Amino acid sequence: MRLAIFGAGGMGRELADIAKRSTQMPLVFVVDEPDHLEVQGVPLIAPHDLEPDDLLVIALGSSGARKTVAERFSDRRFGSLVASSAIVAPSASLGEGAQICDFVAINNLVRIGRHFQANLFAQVSHDCVIGDYVTFSPRATCNGTVHIGDGVFVGAGAIIRNGSPGRPLSIGEGATIGMGAVVTGDVPPGATVFGVPAREADDPRAVAN
Ligand SMILES: CC(C)(COP(=O)(O)OP(=O)(O)OC[C@H]1O[C@@H](n2cnc3c(N)ncnc32)[C@H](O)[C@@H]1OP(=O)(O)O)[C@@H](O)C(=O)NCCC(=O)NCCS
Repeated sequence: MRLAIFGAGGMGRELADIAKRSTQMPLVFVVDEPDHLEVQGVPLIAPHDLEPDDLLVIALGSSGARKTVAERFSDRRFGSLVASSAIVAPSASLGEGAQICDFVAINNLVRIGRHFQANLFAQVSHDCVIGDYVTFSPRATCNGTVHIGDGVFVGAGAIIRNGSPGRPLSIGEGATIGMGAVVTGDVPPGATVFGVPAREADDPRAVAN
């Protein structure tokens, strides 16, 4: 059984570094048209060279691209990678295909769907509920009791305000939170917000600074 990292770009290479430190499993990179034999000592293979018991991790930063690839390989088993320096609370749950990079913290009673990607220093606080194919960029911070829909992208350094037990803050499906945004209220599905405080991109009050 091998850990097969789909994609050998920046995220793929970062995940390979984590895997080399965190697992004894043999590693391969999978790309559609391999043009080298290996990348940084890891063999590069085409999808048709996958073995039946390989565990696939989709190392693509785009939520939509991860979904496309997961659907394409829906007959395969997906693995998860959790860096040894990350903290995942025992009460938290992570769906298959999770990619948890160094110094990430996932706290008490957090529930996360499939193919979650949390980059360096990202944080998810207590009682958050996160859908499938969600991406947290480096240092993205989600405070407690926030519900995040499928396919949401949270940019680098963004901060999402906490909700409350009877009134979770909601980030709608497919929304994009810009880097450095401070999100102080609900974000509608599909919206792109940025700035401090965060506003929708086509909102005349948006602050682009
Ligand atoms: C918000 C975002 C999605 C908008 O992307 P976009 O639609 O391509 O926007 P543009 O780059 O065309 O910028 C449009 C305007 O908004 C401003 N702007 C863009 N992103 C901004 C942000 N995060 N905060 C403040 N202003 C921003 C630009 O300066 C520009 O202003 P101008 O028209 O006065 O020049 C994108 O800038 C972003 O923040 N992406 C996240 C990047 C990230 O975190 N990557 C992590 C990699 S691991």
